[in-house]
Amino acid sequence: MAAAIEVRDAQRGDADALVALWREMTTGSGHPLRLPAPPTAAAVEVAVGKHLDDPFGRLLVGELDGAVHGMAYLRRTAISPLHDDFTVTVEYLHVSDAARRHGLGKALIAEAAAWAEHENCAHLAAVAPAIAREANRFLARLGLGQAGVLRFATTHTVRRRLAAEHAPNLLALLSSRRSVIARRAQLGRPPLTLDPGAADVSFPAAPESAGT
Ligand SMILES: CC(C)(COP(=O)(O)OP(=O)(O)OC[C@H]1O[C@@H](n2cnc3c(N)ncnc32)[C@H](O)[C@@H]1OP(=O)(O)O)[C@@H](O)C(=O)NCCC(=O)NCCS
Repeated sequence: MAAAIEVRDAQRGDADALVALWREMTTGSGHPLRLPAPPTAAAVEVAVGKHLDDPFGRLLVGELDGAVHGMAYLRRTAISPLHDDFTVTVEYLHVSDAARRHGLGKALIAEAAAWAEHENCAHLAAVAPAIAREANRFLARLGLGQAGVLRFATTHTVRRRLAAEHAPNLLALLSSRRSVIARRAQLGRPPLTLDPGAADVSFPAAPESAGT
C-alpha cells in the first residue's frame, strides 16, 4: 500500500521533529553546510508561532504515515527591487533519509506551487547548496534552472577580511607620513600634525573591526 502523505503548516507541537530535521540537514549530509547549529525546541516553538502569523512566509512540514519527515520554508518576496512581480522561494527543503523517494519532496514543492498560484506569483525559486547533488537533480527535473550562487559568512568574517584588505594601504600611508615627519625634523621645522583633519594627506577611515 502506498504511504500516506500530508503537507501542512508547522504547528508548535512539531518543534522536536523540526529540530531533528535541522540536525540531520546540517550534520548528516556528508558535506559541511554553512547553516546555524540546531536551535532548541523552545526557540522553534516561538519561531513556528511567528510563521503562522506571517502573510509572507510559511513553514511547511511533510508527514509520511502520520510522522513528520520533511520540511520546507516558503517566502513570498518581490522578484527584484525593480519589479512588481512576486516570487515564492523554497528554502531549507529537506526530507529525512529514511523517508526519501516516497513523494514527500514533490508534495512539498507542490504546496509551494499551489501557494504561488493562489497568491498570483508567476515565479517559483528554490535554494539548494551547490554541492547537494541529489537536491539539485531533483529540482532541475522539476524545471528549476540555476540562477545564482548564494554565499554565506558571518558579518564578523567579512568585516575582518575587508579590514585585512585595507590594512596594506593604511600601513603604506602611515609609513610615508613617518618619513615626511622625520625629514622635517632633520630640517629643524615644526613637526606635522597627525590629525587627519588638519593634514594635507587624508587618511581612509579604519574599519571598526580593524585589528580584531
Ligand atoms: C531532494 C529531496 C528533498 C527529495 O525528497 P524526496 O522525498 O526523496 O522526493 P520525492 O520522493 O518526491 O522524489 C524523489 C524521487 O523519487 C521518486 N519517487 C517518488 N515516489 C516514489 C516511489 N513510491 N517509489 C519510487 N520512487 C519514487 C520521484 O519520482 C523522484 O524521482 P525523480 O527525481 O527522478 O523524478 C531529498 O532528497 C532531500 O532532502 N535531499 C537533501 C536536501 C538538502 O541537501 N537540503 C539542504 C538544505 S536546502
